[in-house]
Amino acid sequence: MVCSSRRYCVTLLLNDDYKGIIKAAAIIKNGGLVAFPTETVYGLGAAATSNQAVKKIYAAKGRPSDNPLIVHIASLKQLERVAEKISDYAYRLAERFWPGPLSLILPRASEIPQVVSSGYPTVAVRMPDHKVALNLIDAAGVPIAAPSANRSGRPSPTSYRHVLEDLTGKIDAVIKSDSCSIGIESTVLDLTSSLPVILRPGGISREELEAVLGIPVYLAGSKRKRFTTLAPGMKYRHYSPRAPLILFTGPQKRRRLIIDSIINYYHKRCFKIGLLNPVSPNAPLARESLEALAARLYHDLRDMDNRGVDLILAEELTVNGLGLALMNRLKKAATRVLKVK
Ligand code: TXA
Ligand code: MG
Repeated sequence: MVCSSRRYCVTLLLNDDYKGIIKAAAIIKNGGLVAFPTETVYGLGAAATSNQAVKKIYAAKGRPSDNPLIVHIASLKQLERVAEKISDYAYRLAERFWPGPLSLILPRASEIPQVVSSGYPTVAVRMPDHKVALNLIDAAGVPIAAPSANRSGRPSPTSYRHVLEDLTGKIDAVIKSDSCSIGIESTVLDLTSSLPVILRPGGISREELEAVLGIPVYLAGSKRKRFTTLAPGMKYRHYSPRAPLILFTGPQKRRRLIIDSIINYYHKRCFKIGLLNPVSPNAPLARESLEALAARLYHDLRDMDNRGVDLILAEELTVNGLGLALMNRLKKAATRVLKVK
């Protein structure tokens, strides 16, 4: 028996050993939903070839049906089951970055039902860099469609505990494993238009993509008219903690003064303030600090909610490297972006 989308069901907690993975794979093969770890965030998986199973993902997450899913594969051979007309660029990127945090948008193959891609003729595909995820896909013998395993709008889950907070009773099983090492989602790169366009910045930076392709990679949503279309999912508010989050941008010294006065004001009135990413006065942040920040971003957002924080304050980051993805997530999570002059 696997969960139906309407009723409460028992959510199993499985170990990430051989037995657990075989059980998880059997659930996937039978049309059920399993949350599994990847190197970016936990995914909520179903057999990508099953219309019915994929529909359950949308129901369990409360996800709008116009927001397509990423298909996860364990080998390059599977890529040809999922996508067609795979370009030379795609193979070059796959060779360099897979397994890893890069999702490629390619023309969708006929074996993948429309519901996976919300009716688009394309499909997002990636090979995750996590042995549990790869073993699960192998054992299930089918590509696995999986969005992040959170309720829609909530911060993405980077531990099985976050998945249980959001989805207990709505999915068949969660694989209990290590936390996700990167901590923010994959880069979504569209390879179906004349030039490569990042629809969502993520774990692989624009600079890294350009170095492999040897041509410019554009960023969706930038002012250049041709590249205004974001990933469909980016139009929704996202990654949001329950407490309001204010993101401060502008000159660092001025924004520090204002943040300090806000902290003082609210502390005197017994409000709990959460500081998300106190930036040292000697910024720009080094690559390692950006990686550390990414690894704990969603954990910290959820933790602040659990501790009953009343107001979360965050500061602008560099938009180089991983900073671009982090700023994208902060802006999405923010209730307000305050530009200090
Ligand atoms: O790291 C990740 O990408 C994680 C792990 C689980 O793999 N997954 C993830 O999935 O973040 P999700 O569903 O939360 O985000 C997928 C993003 C959405 O913004 C969606 O709109 C975009 O990818 N996307 C998926 N298929 C697409 C398509 N065919 N065309 C354009 N955008 C697409
Ligand atoms: Mg998501």
